[in-house]
Amino acid sequence: MKDVQGKVAFITGGASGMGLGMARAFTAAGMKVMIGDIEQAPMDRAVAELNEVGGDAAGIQTDVTKLESVQAAAAATIEKFGKVHVICNNAGIGVGGQSEKASMRNWEWVMDVNLWGVVHGLQAFVPLITEHGEGGHVVNTASMAGMYGLRGAGPYNATKFAVVGISETMMAEHSRDNLGVSVLCPGIVATNIGNSARNRAENYGGPVQPNEKDTSAEMLAKGLNPDVVGHLVLEAIQEDQPYIFTDPSLRYLIERRTKHILAGYDWADNCKALEGIEPAGL
Ligand SMILES: NC(=O)c1ccc[n+]([C@@H]2O[C@H](COP(=O)([O-])OP(=O)(O)OC[C@H]3O[C@@H](n4cnc5c(N)ncnc54)[C@H](O)[C@@H]3O)[C@@H](O)[C@H]2O)c1
Repeated sequence: MKDVQGKVAFITGGASGMGLGMARAFTAAGMKVMIGDIEQAPMDRAVAELNEVGGDAAGIQTDVTKLESVQAAAAATIEKFGKVHVICNNAGIGVGGQSEKASMRNWEWVMDVNLWGVVHGLQAFVPLITEHGEGGHVVNTASMAGMYGLRGAGPYNATKFAVVGISETMMAEHSRDNLGVSVLCPGIVATNIGNSARNRAENYGGPVQPNEKDTSAEMLAKGLNPDVVGHLVLEAIQEDQPYIFTDPSLRYLIERRTKHILAGYDWADNCKALEGIEPAGL
């Protein structure tokens, strides 16, 4: 989508971090922005900031874990701006823990926000983007954790691998029409994600205040400025770039994973069980 001037974007989780970075970059490029976030006060501040610098922005409190909430946000976007061209499925939460040890409630919470949230955004917004025929773009926020199985984060990695899978499928399905699809795979970015449990609803165990002993805050603080990610996402939309990586020094993780996977083929080429069997192919 080369020409973004006057186009409308909806950003989930746009009150903070990378979502806010996207909202700022889109506004500066002349786009209209609707933010959907679960946190009302930071969202109100974000919208006020965007409008103060001459933007055309609005917000609607949205819980991406609930399809009806995202559908209501889509209807509000059409009511406010008439059309929508870009959906950024960006809201997400961070949860640590090994797959076999993480609590089931944390598993459900991270799946509901990071995976179902993306699905809800696609279901509610993509039909509205494709129906006007002007073209548009989907940006799904995954992570480097969707490209490589980082230790100690099984449930989180599961959601991000799923988001990469959904995005790659959509890239193939929309390769011949005017809907661009990108998957954002950030490395470490200095956002509020270390404090995600502030938003954990009662049905997942309730909110948790940040733990002072938690070292992730220090690590995150050294991360990339989320406003840089906002500009990167804008550039990727304009150039229809499918994979958006924020940290070129992490290329080795993809190379390492690909090498491990290909070693599986080397093994299959020589294993006894497949000897003499004609491959079916795809
Ligand atoms: N920060 C990083 O290092 C990093 C790295 C890779 C991927 N990511 C991903 O980036 C995305 C954005 O996170 P961030 O790092 O900017 O964190 P952030 O906490 O600063 O922003 C996330 C936003 O999502 C909102 N949110 C949380 N639950 C929600 C819900 N149920 N419905 C609607 N909004 C909700 C929060 O209120 C917040 O405004 C997430 O998907 C995250 O997994 C972050």
